[in-house]
Amino acid sequence: MAASSQPHVLVARRIFPQVVERLRECFEVDDNPTDTILERSQLVERLQGKAGAFITASERIDAALLDACPDLRAVCNMAVGFNNIDVQACSARGVMATNTPGVLTETTADLGFALLMAAARRITEGERYLRQGRWTRWTYDMFIAPDVHGSTLGILGMGRIGQAIARRGALGFGMKVIYHNRTRLAPDLEAPLAARWVEKTTLLRECDHLVLVLPYSDQTHHAIGAAELALMKPAATLTNIGRGGLVDEDALAAALQAGRLAAAGLDVFEGEPHINPKLMALPNAALTPHIGSASLRTRRAMADLAAANLIAALCGQRPPSLLNPEVFGLHSR
Ligand code: GLV
Repeated sequence: MAASSQPHVLVARRIFPQVVERLRECFEVDDNPTDTILERSQLVERLQGKAGAFITASERIDAALLDACPDLRAVCNMAVGFNNIDVQACSARGVMATNTPGVLTETTADLGFALLMAAARRITEGERYLRQGRWTRWTYDMFIAPDVHGSTLGILGMGRIGQAIARRGALGFGMKVIYHNRTRLAPDLEAPLAARWVEKTTLLRECDHLVLVLPYSDQTHHAIGAAELALMKPAATLTNIGRGGLVDEDALAAALQAGRLAAAGLDVFEGEPHINPKLMALPNAALTPHIGSASLRTRRAMADLAAANLIAALCGQRPPSLLNPEVFGLHSR
C-alpha cells in the first residue's frame, strides 16, 4: 500500500520506539518523541486529518474535542482506566474507544500491596527519618505500627486488580478479606480467598487496611470523604491506586493530621502531577508518582495492546479491548 493512502494517526506521548515502528508499518504516524505535553488546542490541531489517536491518561477526549476532530475513528488509551475518555460521546459519533485491561493486573496489584505495606509499616516515614540523620538509637516503640499479616483487608472495587490484591492478602499474608463492589463475585472466585461481600459502611468500619481500586467516574467522585473516613478505625490505613478523584484529599489530610486515620498510601492524586500541599506535609502519607503499572514488561504490554487496538480499529477488525462494541463496523460518521 502506498504510504499516502495509509490512515494518519497521532501518538500523543513518547512511547517505546519499537511500538512506534510497528505503527509506522500500517499508518502515517505523527509522534511526539520529545514528549511535549499537548495543550488542548495543540491536541486538536495535531488531530486534524487523523483517523486514530494513541493516547494516555493525560489526554482528555470529550464531545467538544471529537466535534473539532471529525476524521477521528478510534481513540486508543494506554491505560486500563478510561475516565479521560467520554465513551458515550465517542459512541454517539461512531468513534471506537479502547483501553488496556488485563495486562497490568498483577503489576498494579504488586504496587498496591507495596503501598499498603509502606503506609502500614511506616516505611517511607522511617526512611525519611533515617536519611535526615535523626536515628541515634533503637527504642522499643520506635515507628511502632499496626500489623498487616492476619489483619482485615478491605477492598473497594473488586475487579481484576482488586481480586489480585485480595489474593496477595489472603494467600500471602493470612488476611481476612472483605470487599464492596456493585456486583458480588461468583462463589468460585470468593471461596479460595474466603472473601466476603459487605455493605460499604461495614467495609469501612471493619477493615484494618482499605485499598481503593474502583473505576473513577461522576458516580465514584470522592467515594471516600470526611463521612466515610469517620467510619474507619483510627488505626486503619487507606491505599489508593485507582484515581485521585476517588478521595477527598483535604478530608484525608485532615484525618491523617488529627490521628483519625493511621496512614495512607497514595499512587494517584486529584490534580496530578500537582500534589495537595497538605498531603505533601504529612509524614504518615506514603506517596508515589502514579507508577502502579510501571514495570518494563507491563508498560510494553500496555503499549503493544494499545497499538494492536489501533491497528485493528483502522484495519476493519474488532479491537481486542473495545469499550463501545456498538460502534464496531461503522466506518463513517
Ligand atoms: C493507570 O492508571 C491505568 O489506568 O492504566
